Amino acid sequence: MGILQGKRILVTGVLTDSSIAFSVAKLAQQEGATVVLTGFGRLSLVERIAKRLPEPAPVLELDVQSTEHLDTLADRVGEHVDGLDGVVHSIGFAPQTALGGNFLNTSWEDVATALQVSTYSYKALAVACLPLMKEGGAVVGLDFDASKAWPVYDWMGVAKAGLESCNRYLARDLGKQNIRVNLVAAGPLRTMAAKSIPGFKEFEDSWPDKAPLGWDLSDTLPAAKACVALLSDWFPATTGEIVHVDGGVHAIGA
Ligand SMILES: NC(=O)c1ccc[n+]([C@@H]2O[C@H](COP(=O)([O-])OP(=O)(O)OC[C@H]3O[C@@H](n4cnc5c(N)ncnc54)[C@H](O)[C@@H]3O)[C@@H](O)[C@H]2O)c1
Repeated sequence: MGILQGKRILVTGVLTDSSIAFSVAKLAQQEGATVVLTGFGRLSLVERIAKRLPEPAPVLELDVQSTEHLDTLADRVGEHVDGLDGVVHSIGFAPQTALGGNFLNTSWEDVATALQVSTYSYKALAVACLPLMKEGGAVVGLDFDASKAWPVYDWMGVAKAGLESCNRYLARDLGKQNIRVNLVAAGPLRTMAAKSIPGFKEFEDSWPDKAPLGWDLSDTLPAAKACVALLSDWFPATTGEIVHVDGGVHAIGA
């Protein structure tokens, strides 16, 4: 029996089959979960990618900048499953001006977009799903270690710092309903989001050498395994946590 047997999981953020969310959805199904996906923008592309999962999964439209999409989400998810045991937030975006070394000149409008899509949406998604969430459920988000300033990551780094704080506040407020809230801080992975960061190669070049366990930039499975573990019943007393899945880089100095 899989560790997610009988669980109903909403997975956001599938765009291509290299998306971290695709790997999470696939593994969740393999571990026995019923998965519902959300997609943003290119829905026909997401639907095509969803067909590559072991089981067919419905795809619902969700732009986290749309109040209407968020307000109707629980009803739309409820047409496919009668409740939710887990929600995966695998969403991030920052305009190009907010990345790549332009930190001192980025406009507030562009910073605001990065924060709304990458930080505030974590809370917005969790609250939108609350009507369906069962006791013992889990919210899991994808993070990039925000304890330091990185090259080129710029306002996305600030957004991730906010995400880490949001994770703690959500854990505080959802604990009363016995809902756990945790982040997986993954090392760099070659996804669409990563490719859109000018200068991302700087991470690619140094990470595998710095990581005590080594690091494969094209393997999303370790991050997906951590997400699935956190969605399972095997972390019953863990919330507000950040699990690093980065080959160990966060633990190493120069
Ligand atoms: N790739 C990496 O190196 C890496 C490392 C650590 C954490 N992460 C995080 O993992 C998460 C998933 O990213 P990924 O690397 O799999 O890339 P990805 O490009 O496959 O996924 C990003 C997703 O965000 C979605 N998105 C963007 N704007 C949205 C909006 N307004 N509403 C709803 N969805 C929206 C996109 O449609 C896409 O599915 C992000 O939070 C990212 O910051 C990525």
